[in-house]
Amino acid sequence: MKKLMILLILCVTTIALAQDGAAPSPDGTGVRINSRGGIAAPGAAATDGTGARRGRGGAGGAGGGVFGGGRRGQPQVYKYQGLALTPPMGWNTWNTFGTNINETLIKETATIIANKGLKDAGYVYVVLDDAWMARERDENGQLVADPVKFPSGMKALGDFLHSLGLKFGIYNDAGTRTCAGYPGGRGHEYEDARLYASWGVDYVKYDWCNTGSANAQETYRTFGLALLAAKRPMILSMCEWGTAKPWEWASPIAHLWRTTGDIQDRYSTNTRGRGGYGNGWKDILDRQTEQKLEQYAGPDHWNDPDMMEVGNRGLTFAESRAHFSFWCMLAAPLMMGNDLRIMTDDILKVLTDKDVIALDQDPLGKQGYRLIDEEGREVWVKELSNGNWAVCMLNDSPADVVMTLAWSDIPVLAGKTYKVRDLWSKKDLGTTKDNYSGSVVTHDVALFRLTPAE
Ligand code: GLA
Repeated sequence: MKKLMILLILCVTTIALAQDGAAPSPDGTGVRINSRGGIAAPGAAATDGTGARRGRGGAGGAGGGVFGGGRRGQPQVYKYQGLALTPPMGWNTWNTFGTNINETLIKETATIIANKGLKDAGYVYVVLDDAWMARERDENGQLVADPVKFPSGMKALGDFLHSLGLKFGIYNDAGTRTCAGYPGGRGHEYEDARLYASWGVDYVKYDWCNTGSANAQETYRTFGLALLAAKRPMILSMCEWGTAKPWEWASPIAHLWRTTGDIQDRYSTNTRGRGGYGNGWKDILDRQTEQKLEQYAGPDHWNDPDMMEVGNRGLTFAESRAHFSFWCMLAAPLMMGNDLRIMTDDILKVLTDKDVIALDQDPLGKQGYRLIDEEGREVWVKELSNGNWAVCMLNDSPADVVMTLAWSDIPVLAGKTYKVRDLWSKKDLGTTKDNYSGSVVTHDVALFRLTPAE
């Protein structure tokens, strides 16, 4: 009987796949072409209209139809789905090195990621930001790597990263020039995407400088289609700074989108996230909640509050740890932005803390939000899977203080008792029947996971 049932299920699945016209990838990339010429992620399950795929390893379906309209009334999808079911994690060159990057730096950093537990903690994307290119395209209009900075070329670098079990990320810009003045992608979208695919690129960050009067949604759609046509699964990280409110429309196009101008290694510069450059992480944090961005994030479509400054000079240890805590509360992409070659053990410990990363990578994919905003004290909550909650209390005052938290002040916890674990001190603190009280240094946090008590 059991065997018969299994046979029946197998038959039905086969017929369903055949009707859909899905065929296995001929080139081994795992990319399947569906009946409408669109590209389906392996195992893509039905979408919920946002282009997001929920759950892991769903049954084979067509994913989003591409090229010429959505499938059965679903909206058109412009991205390879299912590549970022939890926020992508990795390292990016920009925050510390700017345009001063080269092959040796990338290889040394990648080796540290692979050997110091960072890869095991989830950091796999190594992203070359601006200035990896030669100043001009070649005579055929192709982008070329700067021959001095990257003498072995990009294919070799990609192979090196892959040999360490890491993934390869690269940067360009939707305009005529990148922000640092290198050749942009405008008018070259399809050939560039094919080139990236031929180099083994897994992740493309696409910036928004020098775009003139171009429409952001149309422009990123074009590049999304170009990436799909290149037939290699590549994450699209949109870097439009939130100007055209990408959270309202970018979910079918990109796996993540920037929400503000650039971050700096400061707690706050009082821009409240509106400044072009030079926002402190607290300014960016304020911006997320003011715009109620939490409603737009979820598996495969994330708000990106920018690469991290954790471990960089302008932050105290407490500010770095709090910054990391909040990026995890936001379900933010976790892109390290520090010089890993000189990182202290304390910072490595923060960046690889499994309990805190688990908040970020929780499969439910909910972005946390601010619930209490008082002079000197903020309390944020994030819903987790299995009825768990994360709670983060920030000391926003300039002094070290004893902070208290009455769990009854958090309405979402009402009617239930939870066990409380302090994630930085690694202590179990009893249950939510007892209020919390503890000393928190200036700009640090107390961070908790709450689990329903039996
Ligand atoms: C913009 C982006 C940054 C970085 C630089 C590179 O400012 O927002 O993240 O990519 O360009 O020039």
